[in-house]
Amino acid sequence: MRKRSRFKLLKYLAVAGLITLLFIFAFNGTLLWPSLPKKTPTPKELHDVISPSTYRFILNQPELCEKKSPFLVLMIPVTLKNREARTAIRRTWGQHGLIPGVAILHLFVLGQPAQSEPVLQEQLETESKEYGDIIQMDFVDSYHNLTIKTMMIMNWVATYCQAAWYTMKIDADVFLNVRYLVDYLHGRDESSRKDYITGSVISDAVPHRDSYNKWYIPEDLYPDTWYPPYVSGAAYVFSTDLARKISWASRFVLPIPLEDVYVGMCLHVLGVKPVYATRFLRLRNLFEVRKLSYERCTFSKRIVVNGFNPQNLLRIWHDFQKSQSTC
Ligand SMILES: *[C@@H]1O[C@H](CO)[C@@H](O)[C@H](O)[C@H]1NC(C)=O
Repeated sequence: MRKRSRFKLLKYLAVAGLITLLFIFAFNGTLLWPSLPKKTPTPKELHDVISPSTYRFILNQPELCEKKSPFLVLMIPVTLKNREARTAIRRTWGQHGLIPGVAILHLFVLGQPAQSEPVLQEQLETESKEYGDIIQMDFVDSYHNLTIKTMMIMNWVATYCQAAWYTMKIDADVFLNVRYLVDYLHGRDESSRKDYITGSVISDAVPHRDSYNKWYIPEDLYPDTWYPPYVSGAAYVFSTDLARKISWASRFVLPIPLEDVYVGMCLHVLGVKPVYATRFLRLRNLFEVRKLSYERCTFSKRIVVNGFNPQNLLRIWHDFQKSQSTC
């Protein structure tokens, strides 16, 4: 009798403990991240706008990572009319088997145009059958909606390619030195397989409060004086575990139409600091956001260089493949 009631008490205590834990986790995860700012969930109707679960896939490649989990997945935002850029990328830094023994996937990521373009859409579907490298969702593709596209990238990787070591978000007008990137990532220690994000870090940006500015953000969307550190949106690399974590953190961040700042805000919630990718004590930014005129040896020492149209990319690629041993 005594034994039984003690057992009962223990059972009640265990249940009460579990319920308390569930509450704590459900409300803001303070147990996991005790020192971080209090997290307030974003109102559902605001979060729904940027949440990929609101939208439907028009084209998807759910089995792409099933056979072999890649070392690196390149996620490339484009629009329907960027066909030339897609072709150039498939022939240059996106081509299969570029680095022997290293599995790298690329995917083009699209929404759909505000005005439907049946001819282009049909071409895209043909292209998708031929190359199997296109995913598309049914939100409106616009500069303002790039945050949706970025969250679509995070969600896709977290859902279909979680086993990939690294993911890179890279714009179509960027030159990518794949070999340098692979060597750079291989040269990093175990710690960079988790909570790691690198690129060109911006740590002193402030919100533009002038409503004529392209990057205008009103105070009710973002009241703070500074933005948290973030990586420039043109190209950044992260350990794939962050895709799921950023998707989770986005529930606590008010959507703003600046996709790279937005990712920075999610990282802030997670307590993850983006790492500047440099060599030789900050003297050389490996993620070059300025335009640089092409020169094989200069480019061989960068991971990315911004500002390439498809013709220019194709034009320099052949030369870039030549030996870099004299650099
Ligand atoms: C963003 O996408 C949503 C969903 O498709 C759409 O309703 C909205 O008009 C788009 N916003 C802009 C500015 O394009």
